[in-house]
Amino acid sequence: MTPPTTSNTPDALVRRLREAGCVFAEDEATVLRASAVDAEHLEWLCARRISGAPLEHVVGWVAFGDLHLDVGPGAFVPRQRTLLLARVAVAAARVRGAPTVLEAYAGVAPVATTVRHSVPEARVLAAEIDPVAADYARRNLGTGAAVYRSDSFTAVPDALRGRIDVIAAVPPYVPTTAADLLPREALEHEPDRALFAGDDGLDHVRRLIDRSYDWLADGGVLAIEMNRNQWAAAGRHARRAGFTVRRRSDGHTSVLTATRPRGRRAGHRCR
Ligand SMILES: C[S@@+](CC[C@H](N)C(=O)[O-])C[C@H]1O[C@@H](n2cnc3c(N)ncnc32)[C@H](O)[C@@H]1O
Repeated sequence: MTPPTTSNTPDALVRRLREAGCVFAEDEATVLRASAVDAEHLEWLCARRISGAPLEHVVGWVAFGDLHLDVGPGAFVPRQRTLLLARVAVAAARVRGAPTVLEAYAGVAPVATTVRHSVPEARVLAAEIDPVAADYARRNLGTGAAVYRSDSFTAVPDALRGRIDVIAAVPPYVPTTAADLLPREALEHEPDRALFAGDDGLDHVRRLIDRSYDWLADGGVLAIEMNRNQWAAAGRHARRAGFTVRRRSDGHTSVLTATRPRGRRAGHRCR
């Protein structure tokens, strides 16, 4: 018996994706078609998507603002909500002249890459613990930006201590108790250490706040994305650490902006 040929006409592709549970089937079909080099490749991409792999891992890229970022299996896919943090980081960098900007917990470096494109005079750095994500960050940032394979600040050169103007981060911030609320795609295809951060989701946020103070220049800014329900606790922690704090919000997402006061040297020597 001859196997049935799979039709991937625009309508058939949308139907197959919808039947597989893809909510934005039309949009996904457009991305799959744009990414395929020929019909056979389109079928391969479509089959992988239908088997449950995230669209961005299947096609190898994600749109982030005006940018197309490389991403793939094993790496956290940048979310559109992180555009808020990227805007905050760009604005904070622009007021600092020729700033040094670090994306901590960088993943594939969406915020650092945005800053690199929007503030050409910035010195851009990224720090990320995972080798797969760090490789994507290098590809996205290109030459001229440094990517450190680093647990928090451990691999960031000591010479930068007290000299970073902006630190921006999306640390893992999902409470371990909220795993059930995550989409299956994230649970099955993104590393746990990119997602979870203790009972209240703030383990890495607190650690970042404590460690950043010493790395920031006078008047430097730490900007961290989190869920809006986590902001009050994170803001209290940042104030206790000596920062002045502000909040930016966009639906469920908040950005904590913590500014290091000028002329006050803390005793923190944390990595
Ligand atoms: C939620 S993802 C965010 C990635 C990226 N900023 C984005 O928005 O797409 C968190 C990232 O932090 C990294 N990470 C987890 N623990 C880390 C640590 N101790 N030090 C540095 N990076 C870490 C994970 O590998 C993951 O890439």
